[in-house]
Order: sequence, then C-alpha cells, then structure tokens
Amino acid sequence: MKAIVVTDQAAGTAGMTLVERPEPDAARLASLEGANYGDVVVEVHASGFTGNELEWPSTWTDRLGRDRTPSIPGHELAGVVTALSYGATGLSVGQRVFGLTDWTRDGTLAEYAAVEARNLAPLPGDVDFTVGAGVAMTGLTAWQGLFEHGRLRAGRSVLVHGAAGAVGSMVTQLAREAGAYVIGTGRAAHRQPALGFGAQEFVDLENDALEDVGGVDLVFDVFGGDIGRRSAGLVRAGGTLVTVAGPPEARPADGLAIDFVVVSDRAQLGEIARRVRDGRLRANIGQVATLDDAVEAFNPTERIQGKTVIRVRP
Ligand SMILES: NC(=O)c1ccc[n+]([C@@H]2O[C@H](COP(=O)([O-])OP(=O)(O)OC[C@H]3O[C@@H](n4cnc5c(N)ncnc54)[C@H](OP(=O)(O)O)[C@@H]3O)[C@@H](O)[C@H]2O)c1
Repeated sequence: MKAIVVTDQAAGTAGMTLVERPEPDAARLASLEGANYGDVVVEVHASGFTGNELEWPSTWTDRLGRDRTPSIPGHELAGVVTALSYGATGLSVGQRVFGLTDWTRDGTLAEYAAVEARNLAPLPGDVDFTVGAGVAMTGLTAWQGLFEHGRLRAGRSVLVHGAAGAVGSMVTQLAREAGAYVIGTGRAAHRQPALGFGAQEFVDLENDALEDVGGVDLVFDVFGGDIGRRSAGLVRAGGTLVTVAGPPEARPADGLAIDFVVVSDRAQLGEIARRVRDGRLRANIGQVATLDDAVEAFNPTERIQGKTVIRVRP
C-alpha cells in the first residue's frame, strides 16, 4: 500500500516521504496470532492529521518507549472495514466507519490502517468520508472539553478561543446547541466565520482587550501561553478553564483548570454523526488533498482555515 512515513525526528517534516508499505495482514489478524486483539483493518478513504504531530513523543515511540519508526502519521480517518480480528465487536466487514486511531501506532495517512474496533463508530451512508474524517478529532475534542471536562449546562457562558479554527468551530457550534452563551475569539478576519458558527460575540485578539469580556463560566483554550494565562483570570467562581494546549500555566482563582488529550469514543462519535446528518453540526474543512500531495499539505506555505483532509481514495 501507499503510505506517508516519518523516520527521522530531527528532520521533522522534511523527512516525510510517500513510500510503499506492506498492508496490514488481514489473514494474520483473523488467525489470533500477534497482538491484534480487537483490531479491524480499515480501507482508508479520508484521513486527517494535526500539524504538530511530529512533535509528539507518541509519533516516535510506542507505549513501552521503543522506537517505532518508520511511523505513519495522521490519526483521524473515515473508511470501510475490510477485516476483523478476534475480539473486534460491533462492526462488520463492509461497514463505513470513522474515528481516531491510537497515537502510539501507525496512523491513517495510508491506504489501509489497523485500528481497534472500539475506536471506531459507524459512519452513516449519507455522510461523506471527507466530512467523517474532518469531524472525528475536532468533534470529539469539542465534545469532551465542553461536556465531560467543562460540565457545560444551558445558560452558562463560554469563551471559545480560535472560534473559526478546526476545533474552535466545533466547540462554538456544540456549545450554542447546548444553550450556552458563546463568545468566540480569533483574528480580525475570523469575526464573520466565528459568528457564522454561532458565536454571539467575538473578541479580535489582535485589536480588542480580552479582559473586556468580563467573567465567564467556561474557557475553552486552544492556545496556551499568554492568552491561556490571561484567560484563567476571566473564569468566574466555580467555573473551569479547559485546555488542549498542554498543562495550564495559570489557574482560575476559584475554579478548575483541566488539560486533556482527546480519546476516541464510539458513543460520542455517534452523537457527532447524528448532528452532522441533521445539520446541527457543520464540518469546517479548509482543504482537501490526495495522498500523493499529503506531504505538501502537511507543510502548507500559507495558513488554511479549518481542517485539511487527505482524500486517500476518490
Ligand atoms: N489535546 C488535544 O486533545 C488536542 C486535540 C485537538 C487539537 N489540539 C491542539 O489544539 C490546537 C488548535 O487546533 P486546531 O486544529 O483547532 O487549529 P487551527 O485550525 O489552526 O485553529 C486555531 C485558530 O486560532 C487562530 N489563532 C492562532 N493563533 C492566534 C492568535 N495569536 N490570535 C488570534 N487567533 C489565533 C488560528 O488562526 P490562524 O490560522 O490565522 O493562525 C485559527 O483560526 C493545536 O495546537 C492542536 O494541536 C489538541
């Protein structure tokens, strides 16, 4: 199969190449040999990645700390199940699926991927593979940050950083649907897109004073650094700063600061798929490229708003 691999951590994205790799061995998967318990093989139709994956330790080492290069980046996918192992439950061969793959295993910038079945959910027939790959990571991150870690309820106020971005646009839409009052942030040019995703107010971080927001019940931070630190001071008593930008550098005076890494969850993927189907959730896809052009897409020369999706099969 064709796959994108990285072999040299020091080389970074310059070391990314498109190569021929053996496909995941479906016969071996079904034979109970090896450590494939619970895996399925997915024929990848669309794949997504995060721009800073090559900085993650999990791209280079497995859970036991062993070198796992050459490794295949990209951990978001939509595709079709082609083989099941012993222990793979709830899916069948031929089924359309989407989800996230394990950070410490080969990913989805490839024609096939071996994935634990529990990390996948059915993708309805009327949801395009590109959309499925585009909302898996961003939708789950938004869902977990708002509802699990942020315990959001109707009537609460939420400050959503990067509200026109890949994650922020999902956070904005889900928070609005849940009945929250949503204040988005970003650059001046992001005002209209953020309002279009449902933000009721917008703070242009380049020209407005963040502190003018006053107090909010929940901050969803994707930046960290100075903006993350200053945002902690905006959280009302009993509120929460949720961040996906690494350990928070400041905490609310009388509230929680929670840093998390998204995990795949079949039930939550189902909630996301339902909302995409009925129009409550709009994918924010900025660019679609082929696997042949994936290295270039991973190294964009200009900023692209929204998610880049690699369409592995037409
Ligand atoms: N922990 C986790 O589980 C997890 C999960 C998903 C994502 N993440 C992380 O979350 C971050 C955001 O991901 P994403 O995919 O949503 O990125 P993204 O699509 O680039 O969104 C970020 C948005 O914020 C804007 N922005 C960036 N810096 C800004 C600044 N200084 N002032 C105003 N606006 C600014 C960006 O605009 P420009 O494009 O113009 O800069 C963009 O609109 C990434 O660092 C990613 O690694 C973590």
